[in-house]
Amino acid sequence: MFSPIGNLFIGLSVNSVVGIHLLPPFTDRHYTPLPLPLLLCFSTVLVVCYLMISGRVSMGEKSRQKTCIITAAVILFLFSLLPIWHMDYFSSSRWPLQYSFSCTLNGMIYDKPNALVPQRTDVAMITPWLAPIVWNGSYNIDILNEQFHQKGVRIGLTVFAIKKYIVFIKTFIETAEQFFMVGNKVNYYVFTDRPTDVSFIPLKEGRRLVVLEVPSYKRWQEVTMRRMEMIRNYSQQLFINEVDYLVCVDVDMKFSDEVGVEILSDVFGTLHPSFYGASREQFTHERRPQSEAFIPVDEGDFYYAGGCFGGTVEEVYKLTNFCHNAMMTDKGKNIEAIWHDESYLNKYFLYHKPTKVLSPEYLWNNNFGGRNFLKRRRFVAVTKNNVEIRKN
Ligand SMILES: *[C@@H]1O[C@H](CO)[C@@H](O)[C@H](O)[C@H]1NC(C)=O
Ligand SMILES: *[C@@H]1O[C@H](CO)[C@@H](O)[C@H](O)[C@H]1NC(C)=O
Repeated sequence: MFSPIGNLFIGLSVNSVVGIHLLPPFTDRHYTPLPLPLLLCFSTVLVVCYLMISGRVSMGEKSRQKTCIITAAVILFLFSLLPIWHMDYFSSSRWPLQYSFSCTLNGMIYDKPNALVPQRTDVAMITPWLAPIVWNGSYNIDILNEQFHQKGVRIGLTVFAIKKYIVFIKTFIETAEQFFMVGNKVNYYVFTDRPTDVSFIPLKEGRRLVVLEVPSYKRWQEVTMRRMEMIRNYSQQLFINEVDYLVCVDVDMKFSDEVGVEILSDVFGTLHPSFYGASREQFTHERRPQSEAFIPVDEGDFYYAGGCFGGTVEEVYKLTNFCHNAMMTDKGKNIEAIWHDESYLNKYFLYHKPTKVLSPEYLWNNNFGGRNFLKRRRFVAVTKNNVEIRKN
């Protein structure tokens, strides 16, 4: 009873109400659904136009043509709005960093790279998917600093100081002031249940401490797992408006050498200091197939540490959203992955490869002593008494 063009119109109007709300790409972080009244107007216009064009409402040939043109314009207008809404154009004052990452490096003097001589022969410096593995000697910090400075890059460092872990915050911030992203804009995001205990620490120019109050959970496993949820939530509400990159780390640590822009990339993970040389079987991945964190023994690239990861706010949102959702699914099945948030992080990185991998220079434990290949120890564990600290 309907002509092909009639079907098209009806289809379009139904789609504009239902489809736009359900299309998976648009359910992303940046998507704000078009307001329902607007969609209803559009679909009503489409249906009325269809009735006119198909001759169910009597009108002259001229006005029929006019109606056709107006309808086409309405459809085009509607579709041209989609990407704008999708990118949250109106609330974000900046283009995402990656769209503008070009800069000029005039007259810099530095050692010539040599295509026939490897920078290091004792360690792997690239993954099979061509992500750099960051070791001292694999990069020139002057070139990188110049690139990132020109962009005025802003970095957020997230850290969780919950319950007794608050004792670590002073050393953490003090050493970060000395070594972390020196000369760049840095926001420290300190998540804590004891905001009044965050001691005042003088910060250098361009650096800011933001205290974010969060609930405290009973078990320490719950505390560590909820970090993903909190980073996800704040990425959407706060971080996206304040910083370009996020670096998410453990608090029971201190910086003891430079950590700079060489670590920044779309999404990065860090080789766990206990497993950088281990075989797949030795990785302590989650091995129960029922778990969302499950990794079969014949898969797995590296064992990444839960204590240091990051990337652009957008990528960190995706990562933490995945981990949190996987955790919640497992929780519904009464499963908790063997190494909590770290297990889900490893699952994410297996199927969404990191674009940079940090060497154990960026996460070390001095109790392990040194290693020949370890030229610098940049971020190291502070000795703690687990039993004492993890008690409520
Ligand atoms: C780290 O690498 C730089 C070159 O990028 C080199 O000059 C320096 O000696 C290295 N440090 C150590 C401790 O090997
Ligand atoms: C995170 O956001 C979700 C959805 O908006 C909310 O239900 C949840 O309570 C939030 N979690 C925390 C820890 O704030």
